[in-house]
Amino acid sequence: MLEEIKKTAAFIQAETRDFAPEVGIVLGTGLGDFADRIDTQFAIEYKNIPGFPVSTVEGHKGRMIFGTIEGRRVVAMQGRFHYYEGYTMQQVTFPVRVMQQLGIKYLFVSNASGGINTSFRVGDLMVITDHINLMPNPLIGPNIAELGPRFPDMHNCYDKTLIAAATKIAEEENIKLQYGVYVGGTGPTFETQAEYRYFKAIGGDAAGMSTVPEVIVARHMSVPVFGVSVITNCGLSDEVGDHEDVQRQGKKAGVRMEVLFRKMIKNLK
Ligand code: HPA
Repeated sequence: MLEEIKKTAAFIQAETRDFAPEVGIVLGTGLGDFADRIDTQFAIEYKNIPGFPVSTVEGHKGRMIFGTIEGRRVVAMQGRFHYYEGYTMQQVTFPVRVMQQLGIKYLFVSNASGGINTSFRVGDLMVITDHINLMPNPLIGPNIAELGPRFPDMHNCYDKTLIAAATKIAEEENIKLQYGVYVGGTGPTFETQAEYRYFKAIGGDAAGMSTVPEVIVARHMSVPVFGVSVITNCGLSDEVGDHEDVQRQGKKAGVRMEVLFRKMIKNLK
C-alpha cells in the first residue's frame, strides 16, 4: 500500500507543482460549500486521481482542492469516502494517507451527525473530544512501519491545544459550541431508537457514519486532529432521519463552522 500512496502523492505533486499543503481538511455532508471559498490554485476530481475511489453520495462533490485560507496552504477534500458505500477501510482512509505524504501538519475533519446528548439542538456545532469506533478498524492488516506503530495510542486523539483554540475563537465570534464523543457506526441505516439509547449509554453524544476511520489513520501517523460535527437531527426525539434534512442543516451550520476553521487555520503555529 505504501507504494500506492507514494505513487498517488507523486501524481498530485506533479499536477499541483509541488503545492505542499500545511493543513488537510475533510468536508462532510452539506459542508462542501466552504471549499468553494478557498483561494483555489488547483482542483483535481477524485476520478482523475490514480488510486482514488469515486464518491457516490449525494451532497458530496468529489474533488481535492489546493489553495489558501487566510494565507495558509491547505488541501480540502470536498466529499469523502464512506464504508457504507462499499469501499474497504483502506480505500476510505487512502486520501488521508496521501495528504500526509503531501506534508500536512494538521488534519481538520467535519461531519453531520445525529445528536444523542439531549441538551443538543439541531444546528449545534459539536467539537469532537473523543470517539467510539463501531466500524472495522482501518489499521487491521499488515502494519506499515514507515507510517506508524503497530499499536497506536489513541489518547488525545483530538488535539487538546486545537480544542482550546476553538473555544477561544468561539467566544470571540459568539459561536455556541457543544463538546462531545462521536460514535462512528457503519450506516447506511440511521439508528433505531434502541441503538440511539445504546450509544448514549456507552458514553456517546452524537452518532455518525464517517470520520473515525480517517482520524485513526491520521493518529497512526501522529498527525494532530481537530474535528467538528454538525448536529443535523436529534436521535432520541421522535423525528425520522432524512438525508435531505441532514444536507440542509449541514449547509446552515456550515457558515459557523467555516468561521471557526478559518480563524483556527490562520492562527496555527
Ligand atoms: N445517525 C448516523 N449518522 C447521521 C445521523 C444519525 O442520526 N445524522 C446525520 N448523520
